[in-house]
Amino acid sequence: MSGELSPIDKAKFVAAKRATRFVETGMRVGLGTGSTAAWLLRCLGERVRDEGLRIKGVPTSSRTAEMARDVGIDVISLDEAKWLDITIDGADEFDANLNLIKGGGGAHLQEKIVATASDQMIVIADGSKQVETLGAFPLPLEIIPFGWQTTKMLVEETLIGMDVLGRNSSLRMNGQAPFVTDEGNHILDLHLNRIGNARQLSLVLNQIPGVVENGLFIDICDAVVIGYGDGRTEVRDISSGSVEQEKIDILEGDNLFDGIDV
Ligand code: A5P
Repeated sequence: MSGELSPIDKAKFVAAKRATRFVETGMRVGLGTGSTAAWLLRCLGERVRDEGLRIKGVPTSSRTAEMARDVGIDVISLDEAKWLDITIDGADEFDANLNLIKGGGGAHLQEKIVATASDQMIVIADGSKQVETLGAFPLPLEIIPFGWQTTKMLVEETLIGMDVLGRNSSLRMNGQAPFVTDEGNHILDLHLNRIGNARQLSLVLNQIPGVVENGLFIDICDAVVIGYGDGRTEVRDISSGSVEQEKIDILEGDNLFDGIDV
């Protein structure tokens, strides 16, 4: 163990740890991408190693695939699995209806395909991801590289007719070069500040030629596990309306996989 976890890492860790209880032997599990999902992989890896949990993991990015293998999870492709029992992933924002913004890590295309192909999608998040209205976090839009400046123009024009507060977009960069997704595409980040009608925006954006997929997840998430820095967790299930609270102990050694990056 290399030092005490920060409050934010504790929050992510307890959310992830609580969410692993949704996973049972024999399940095909969609594995999310990002720093919260990295905690999930560590916790699942621990169950594989200590409890003999047997699952097939379908990763949502090359980063996740590599880390899943590192922690001992059997990795298969979505084409091999075809359909999944559950997907557990992070989010950049979630609202009271469990609609989400995802894609801060540039993986929302695969994440959306995998989550949609799952009986159940669970989001794991620290409390800061909860919002009243989506849109403060820039909305990621995966676009193909061909003619991207024209696509950007079309997107900004389309936003004029939409219920949003900002209309600027920026091409995501990786140093001096455009960021490239696992599918070889680019990301436009839309600075909307507030999204009045997320369902409508999602449909309209996906109609624009050159747009592959937007980062709005509407009616995909079934439950959220929120973690807090003091170890508290809250599971909110959208279909049953149930809320379960529990405190998770953070033990010495829970930072066991420190050093494995996602
Ligand atoms: C990856 O593309 C994203 O959808 C992530 O799931 C999201 O950005 C949350 O990431 P963190 O858990 O790192 O905040």
